[in-house]
Amino acid sequence: MTSIPESMYALETIKLGSAEEALKYHQVKTPKVTKPTDILIQVKAIGVNPVEAKARQGNIPIPFFSTPRILGGDYAGVIVDKGSQVTGFNIGDAVFGSLAHPVGPNGSYAEYVLTAQGSGGIAKKPDNVSFEEAACAGIAVVTAYHAITGLGNLPKQGPKKILVIGSSGGVGTYAIQYAKSLADTEVVGICSGKNAELVLGLGADRVVDYTSKQSMDALTSDEEGTYDLIVDAIGGDDYYNQLVNLLKKRGTYSTAVGPTIHNGAEKVGLFAAAKMAGILITRKLFGCRYYQVVVSLPWDKLATDVAPLIANGKIKTVLKDDQIFDLKDGVLAHKKIESHRTVGKIVMRV
Ligand SMILES: NC(=O)c1ccc[n+]([C@@H]2O[C@H](COP(=O)([O-])OP(=O)(O)OC[C@H]3O[C@@H](n4cnc5c(N)ncnc54)[C@H](OP(=O)(O)O)[C@@H]3O)[C@@H](O)[C@H]2O)c1
Repeated sequence: MTSIPESMYALETIKLGSAEEALKYHQVKTPKVTKPTDILIQVKAIGVNPVEAKARQGNIPIPFFSTPRILGGDYAGVIVDKGSQVTGFNIGDAVFGSLAHPVGPNGSYAEYVLTAQGSGGIAKKPDNVSFEEAACAGIAVVTAYHAITGLGNLPKQGPKKILVIGSSGGVGTYAIQYAKSLADTEVVGICSGKNAELVLGLGADRVVDYTSKQSMDALTSDEEGTYDLIVDAIGGDDYYNQLVNLLKKRGTYSTAVGPTIHNGAEKVGLFAAAKMAGILITRKLFGCRYYQVVVSLPWDKLATDVAPLIANGKIKTVLKDDQIFDLKDGVLAHKKIESHRTVGKIVMRV
C-alpha cells in the first residue's frame, strides 16, 4: 500500500460567501478507510459543478449544512486503500466517479477522498481519457443520461427528435453527445452563436441561437408538435412557455433546473422554494405535456452505461485550456462556474 500522509491539502469552505471569502486552500486531516466498503482515492483531478458554487454562497437549502466543510462530488484518481468487502476494484486502479452528495462535508476538493462502494458512482477510468477528462464525467454526464433515458419517455423504436437547451454547458455538451449516440435521433441544440460551431462539432444536427429573436421565432413557428423530448439545462419559465408546444402530444419536457433560470444562482428562500414546488406540481399534474425534473441521479449507470460510451469515444468531455485550474486556485474555478458562461466543463488539478 502507498504510504498515506496524516494530513492533506484541501480547498475547504470555511464560511459562506464569495469565492474569495469562503474558499481556503490549507491542510486538513486525511480521511481513512474504517468501514468494509470504504474506498480511499488519491485525487488527480476534480470536476466542478454549479451546485458547489450555489452551496458555497448559501443560496440553496441543504439540511444540516454547516461550515467548515469540503465541497465537491466529481473526482478521478487512483485507489490507495480499500475495505475488506470492496469487490471489483483494487489498490492501484485508476477510477473516476462522484460522491453521493456534491456538497460535502468530506467532498472531493482535496488530495484524498473517501467513498464507499454502493454510494455515489465509481467506475474504472478508460485508458483513452485523461484524469482531467474523466473527473468531469460525473454529475453533468449522469444528469444528461438520466434526463434523456431515465425520464425522457422516448419512443422505443423509430426516429426521435430531441432539443437541448443550454447545449454548450456542462450538462448540455454531454446531452448532445448522448442523444446522438441513440439510434435514429435528430438532435437540435439551443446555444449562443459564439458556441454554435462547438455544439455542431459534438454531433448536433442543427443549432438555434437563443440570442437571435428571429431564430427563436422560426423554431417555435416551424417546428410545433415535432419533438419527442426537450432537455432543459438552463431553467426558467420563459423557455418552458416558449418551447413546450414544440413537443408532440406524448412528448416530455425534462429539466435539470426547474422553473427558475439558473436556479440557486440567487438565494432560494422558503417562499421561493414553496412557489417553485407549486409550479412543478402544477406542471406535472396539469401541464399539457409530460414534465420531469432531475431530482436524484442513477449512479449505478455510471459504470454500466456511461463509462462504455466514454471508452468507445461516443461521449467526450469538452475541456478548454482556460477552464483547467490547480486546486489551490479553486477561487478562479468557482468564479468561472458562477458566471454561467462555462463552455463544456471546468476541472481542478491536484
Ligand atoms: N438536477 C440536478 O441533479 C442537476 C445536475 C446537474 C446540473 N444541474 C443544474 O443544471 C444547470 C446546468 O448545469 P451546467 O453544468 O450545464 O451549467 P454550466 O456549464 O454553467 O452552463 C453554462 C452554459 O450555459 C449557457 N447559457 C447560459 N445562459 C443561457 C441561456 N439563457 N440560454 C441558453 N444557454 C445559456 C452558456 O452559454 P452562453 O455563454 O453562450 O450563454 C454556457 O455555455 C445548473 O443550474 C445546474 O445547477 C442540476
